[in-house]
Amino acid sequence: MSGAADYSAVEHLRDGRPIEIRALRPDDRAEMLAAVGRTSTQSLRRRFFVPKKVFSEQELAFFLNIDFENHVALVAQIDEDGSPTIVAGGRYIVVQPGQAEIAFVVVDAYQGQGIGTILMRHLAVLACDAGLNELIAEVLPENTAMLKVFGKFGFRPSSKREPQVRHLTMRLN
Ligand SMILES: CC(C)(COP(=O)(O)OP(=O)(O)OC[C@H]1O[C@@H](n2cnc3c(N)ncnc32)[C@H](O)[C@@H]1OP(=O)(O)O)[C@@H](O)C(=O)NCCC(=O)NCCS
Repeated sequence: MSGAADYSAVEHLRDGRPIEIRALRPDDRAEMLAAVGRTSTQSLRRRFFVPKKVFSEQELAFFLNIDFENHVALVAQIDEDGSPTIVAGGRYIVVQPGQAEIAFVVVDAYQGQGIGTILMRHLAVLACDAGLNELIAEVLPENTAMLKVFGKFGFRPSSKREPQVRHLTMRLN
């Protein structure tokens, strides 16, 4: 397991509130499910391409048991009435040597405050440090916010074309 497993950094929302960006931990299960419960069907569809609210034990194990090498997951945690609360997550999964697929979800009430951009920046640094060459992503064409975030980081359309999904790619090293 690499140093990414202990990752922690403090950032700020556009309104100045501090937010911790840290590695997802196996004991985040209840918090992660609570965040999913606060996320709209539309957002979950944009993340999983199906309006997914319920996860099997096998899927939960996949999302929570991270090796921080081939699968790196960060969460964004904010103080809500004195309780640290997960409001977003981002992860990359190595799909072939040197290449990882990246995806995010931010709880609706916190979208548009810079969290997606912050998570993207931290994951890009971790991917670069890990020596990966390329990040790829699949985005629904109507997902303007995600396309904007990826555009800011230099993602470009990949050679893979499909009418219902935008395939994007970004060179790292
Ligand atoms: C896509 C997502 C991760 C982006 O995270 P976020 O925290 O909302 O993003 P940010 O606040 O960092 O930036 C969003 C950008 O899109 C812009 N934006 C948001 N909605 C927009 C819209 N409908 N039209 C145009 N621009 C839009 C924002 O103004 C912002 O641009 P700016 O930085 O120039 O101001 C988040 O909205 C989300 O979780 N959506 C649902 C799940 C999803 O789509 N996942 C992607 C799977 S790959």
